[in-house]
Amino acid sequence: MMKLKHLATATFCLMVAFGCSSEKRPIYKDASADIEARVNDLVNRMTLEEKILQLNQYVLGVNTVENNFGEMVKDIPVEIGSLIYFNDHAEVRNAMQKKAMEESRLGIPILFGHDVIHGYRTTYPIPLALACSWNPELVRQASEVAAQEAYDCGVNWTFSPMVDVSRDPRWGRVMECFGEDPYTNAVFCKAVVKGYQGDDMSEKNRIAACLKHYVGYGASEAGRDYVPTEISDQTLWDTYLPPFEAGVKAGAATLMSAFHTISGIPASANHYILTEVLKEKWQHDGFVVSDWGAVEQLRYQGMAEDEKEATMLAFNAGIEMDMADRMYQKYLAELLEEGKVDMKLVDESVRRILRVKFRLGLFEHPYVEEKPESEMYLLPKSLEIAEKAAAESMVLLKNENSVLPLENVGTIAVIGPVASDSTQHLGNWGARARAEDVIGIVQGMCEEYAGKSKILTAKGCDFEGNDKSGFAEAVRVAKASDVVVVCLGHKGSWSGENQSRSTIEIPKIQEELLSAVEATGKPVVVLVTTGRPVELPRIEQKADAILQTWHSGVRAGKAIAGLLSGRYNPSGKLAMTFPYSTGQIPVYYNRRHRARTGDQGLYKDITSEPMYPFAYGLSYSTFEYGKLTVSSDKLKEGETIYAEVTVKNTSQRDGLETVHWFVKDPYSHITRPVKELKYFEKKLIKAGENVTFRFEINPLRDLGFVNREGKKYLDKGEYRIMVGDQSVSIYVI
Ligand code: NOJ
Repeated sequence: MMKLKHLATATFCLMVAFGCSSEKRPIYKDASADIEARVNDLVNRMTLEEKILQLNQYVLGVNTVENNFGEMVKDIPVEIGSLIYFNDHAEVRNAMQKKAMEESRLGIPILFGHDVIHGYRTTYPIPLALACSWNPELVRQASEVAAQEAYDCGVNWTFSPMVDVSRDPRWGRVMECFGEDPYTNAVFCKAVVKGYQGDDMSEKNRIAACLKHYVGYGASEAGRDYVPTEISDQTLWDTYLPPFEAGVKAGAATLMSAFHTISGIPASANHYILTEVLKEKWQHDGFVVSDWGAVEQLRYQGMAEDEKEATMLAFNAGIEMDMADRMYQKYLAELLEEGKVDMKLVDESVRRILRVKFRLGLFEHPYVEEKPESEMYLLPKSLEIAEKAAAESMVLLKNENSVLPLENVGTIAVIGPVASDSTQHLGNWGARARAEDVIGIVQGMCEEYAGKSKILTAKGCDFEGNDKSGFAEAVRVAKASDVVVVCLGHKGSWSGENQSRSTIEIPKIQEELLSAVEATGKPVVVLVTTGRPVELPRIEQKADAILQTWHSGVRAGKAIAGLLSGRYNPSGKLAMTFPYSTGQIPVYYNRRHRARTGDQGLYKDITSEPMYPFAYGLSYSTFEYGKLTVSSDKLKEGETIYAEVTVKNTSQRDGLETVHWFVKDPYSHITRPVKELKYFEKKLIKAGENVTFRFEINPLRDLGFVNREGKKYLDKGEYRIMVGDQSVSIYVI
């Protein structure tokens, strides 16, 4: 740091000489001035040391995610660019901000970041579940609440949304994304960015979004974390980049780099994606933060010889802010002196960070009001959204003989390790989540059925292990009931970062509990509470109904009980394929064509089809699709046609139906997936009524494809528009 100070002396003296005394009000402090003018004015006043500190992020407080333990930082430099704020009181944050504003020479506010992944205190369903709601407006509302709660606690920036297309449910982080499809991730990405940032980030209750992990982290080999990926340029462009491009277009202020290596080049030292694509092609003018320690880790990835080289590689590739490992603080000044880093790039990086701070209005409103918790968290409207989001995210996978909904039932048994363990509904990455806020299954059922049905409960067994001592009680309770709800699943902590699993089974002990209960002959409803798709064939054989409930947050139990009673009609559909077995992975709907037909190349021991495909999900209503029609079967670039289908609710119950519109390009000079989702819409269809769904087809946007350079093109010839089991051909002429 001595050298750094020395280097900075000249600039600093000049600034003192021009001093602020003669100046009325520096431009950067003038809220009415243009943001670019303010940014430039401020950068011109900064010493090198001040600039470098802006490029660093420290940690304030501790959190509970195993790999993110931070020490309480007592001596944080007041010029620091950002802090990850792991504490839960605005006071600590305001006190630190006060130091920055009053004790630093230029009074630059600190940017406080935090992982707000699926709610702050009001925890919503995990993103993978939210995608199954097919309701982006609801997800925007949930993100808006998350932003308000985080803002009230002093957080200005969340490390979310995570839009890594993921096709391997062994990967613990599938819970954080919106499933296996690029378009779905793109749509929900936009909804979340809007929910956090609104139209103007400087407004109250708005926080900056961070798209992560840029890019392709979901391709992690064998579903393990921190490992290499093999992604061709073609796949990068047609699968992994689209959600990020959508987020950048929606105005996302920042992005986070990733831990993995992309076909030989680590994502965090990848000039092509970080600079050529993001900053040059897409013109993103916010900044990129490294993932935690990702700069230093370039050494372990076999690229950098030492910390200094790692710093040079990450910075020159296009990472502006260094999260947690302090590499930039240690080495940037030396690298500048040695001519390995350009001062222009340092200035440009500082500009990008300051631009976000100005856009957030932090210079004008550096502090947050310290309010009582009752005014910030778990507000009635927030909880209402939480329950609705949970109900719309859950997916009914089986409902034989319409065993559900459970109406006019005398006694209902609620059995299994998830039944009374409400903590698990919070899943992983709960920001300020608290178990005491959760309404679990038993509580939800008791409230739902109060005065109508008797609820009996038994745990039966733990999530894993061999202890069957609770089985007898579970069987006794089942025998005393008319129907049994068996609550199986994974703990919340089994998903998330560093939570890869070699098998996606539900532990054997839970399947054995199910067998014991099923042997009573009572109708069995299985609830599957997990953060990933799981193997269900053995469970399916023993269940009359299956409801995939995911880790669905503070109102999970209310939503579950509402779905079981019929107060809600299930409308969730899968955003990620459920395989029959772990050995089928990867299995996803939008795979490319194979070279042979029939059973050639398929598995010889099991089917090659998934157990529950993408977009699958049942309702208590029955829907009948009319004939799929198109307004014209020929179109040219620049013209628009539309496809339509009328859906009839043939049941006695109002229901929400999502229509998924797929496109297939049967022959193309770059081979494409067997089908690609291009549009979806969810609408209420009242009992007995018809509703028409329409897909406006813009040829380049919806039929076109992208090449390995990221150029969108449109081939002439046949395309198929697909809805349900119908398909219609149209021709680009
Ligand atoms: C590491 C994770 O990969 C990333 O998603 C998260 O935002 C950071 N840690 C900060 O907690």
